Amino acid sequence: MSLARELVLVLDFGAQYTQLIARRIREQRVYCEIQPCTISFEQVQAMAPKAIVLSGGPASVYAEGAPSVDPRVFELGVPVLGICYGLQLIAHLLGGRVEKADAREYGHARVVVEHAEGIFHRFSKREALDVWMSHGDRIVALPPGFQTIGVSGNTPFCAVGNASRRIYGVQFHPEVVHTPRGADILAALLFDVAGLHPTWTPGAFTDEAVATVAAKVAPGDHVLCGLSGGVDSAVAAVLCHKALGERLTCIFVDNGLLRQGEAEQVVSTFRQSLRLNLVAVDARSKFLSALAGVKDPEQKRKIIGRVFIEVFEEEAKRFQGSKWLVQGTLYPDVIESVSFRGPSAVIKSHHNVGGLPEKMNLKLIEPLRELFKDEVRAAGEELGMPRDMLWRHPFPGPGLAVRCLGEVNETRLAVLRAADAIVIGEIRAAGLYDTIWQAFAVLLPVKSVGVMGDERTYEETCAVRAVHSVDGMTADWAKIPYDVLARISNRIINEVRGINRVVLDITSKPPGTIEWE
Ligand code: XMP
Repeated sequence: MSLARELVLVLDFGAQYTQLIARRIREQRVYCEIQPCTISFEQVQAMAPKAIVLSGGPASVYAEGAPSVDPRVFELGVPVLGICYGLQLIAHLLGGRVEKADAREYGHARVVVEHAEGIFHRFSKREALDVWMSHGDRIVALPPGFQTIGVSGNTPFCAVGNASRRIYGVQFHPEVVHTPRGADILAALLFDVAGLHPTWTPGAFTDEAVATVAAKVAPGDHVLCGLSGGVDSAVAAVLCHKALGERLTCIFVDNGLLRQGEAEQVVSTFRQSLRLNLVAVDARSKFLSALAGVKDPEQKRKIIGRVFIEVFEEEAKRFQGSKWLVQGTLYPDVIESVSFRGPSAVIKSHHNVGGLPEKMNLKLIEPLRELFKDEVRAAGEELGMPRDMLWRHPFPGPGLAVRCLGEVNETRLAVLRAADAIVIGEIRAAGLYDTIWQAFAVLLPVKSVGVMGDERTYEETCAVRAVHSVDGMTADWAKIPYDVLARISNRIINEVRGINRVVLDITSKPPGTIEWE
């Protein structure tokens, strides 16, 4: 970490929006980290934050065992912003009073600016702001030295501040999209109140990550990197290549479960355009024979994970001197594991490659550990990687195996691949690709009757799945225009032998999942 980096610390009290706060701050090009509210005052001091944000949270400040913060953070002399629960905590700890409200306030509200100062510096007096509220408690008395700077119909202490101590609080959520001017509030906190500088740019974090990797790996050490074709491992590989040059070897395992033309594309992009050392392993038959006859989704995943480790390990043996393995772990995974709510029960298997580093006694390099997904893409652009590769839709580790429902075999995979290429091709042609989180075809082992010309057909069904999402955790089905759907359907039925019916999946997540298996 460079000494010049200015840190904003977000203390997490268990809010569902904490990650969003960090993302919004980073969008202002200021570095910020999330820590659980349980870290000690000494740890906070050691991090030397230039500003502190107290997140929201589901608790009531007056409840027994409610999460709190050491009041000495208010004596550090750095600006503090409390959001929702964070505001109530400020009121509670500094001598105000918080009570249960008669009614929960949830959803849209309008705040009127009373004093255009501090975090409201970028607004004018009497300006009305649309905001998003979500709280069950309310402040009934302000702590000494605080004044109201914004009011809403239901909440007289909606935004408050103590200008001389630079401590502010808002009852609403400036970090969510439903608070359209939220970025102006955060910008005022960061730049006008805290006097920070927008130095966390793609160039800065890319340079820093390269320097960190270069410093970590001893000059004679060799490094391995597993490439999946996805964005994260690709950017991690290119970053490490910049730091290590020829000492990096990338291993790409073709498991036979990739989309049309994908394996060829990965190999040519990495070898020809990006000039990385790439070992491509053709393990298609190994994966397909291990999957023969298997229909259960979880069993498919387990088999694919196991075979991947076997293949990777076998290949890595050729690079005996390697001590390091590169992984594309992102910041959200890091936060999950230190969360105030406790470590996430399910660590995604593709992030720890199923225990591979321990098994092979390799130390980890995780150059993207501090980055959010959008920052990874920005880093990739900074490193000159092709746009197509950086903006591809996410693709699951087990690949087409979890989209080929029922038995996975060469014949059905070929049918699925052809249908999927049509779905993606038409969505691209309609200019919709970048507006959609994921779009793909699913092959269902459901046969139905059709007529083609004079012939009766009895073939399988293709489901078209397209969703909007911001992080894959929740999703809404994409309303693709009928004419695009019509082209997709016509082309699949006319061009793909093996499918005679196309259906559209109109399920959101929850209650559905994005993938069918
Ligand atoms: P679901 O289907 O759970 O998917 O709504 C959420 C996101 O995760 C991807 N996904 C996976 N990725 N290995 C992966 O690497 C998996 O086993 C896996 N299952 C789902 C899915 O494509 C979506 O983006």
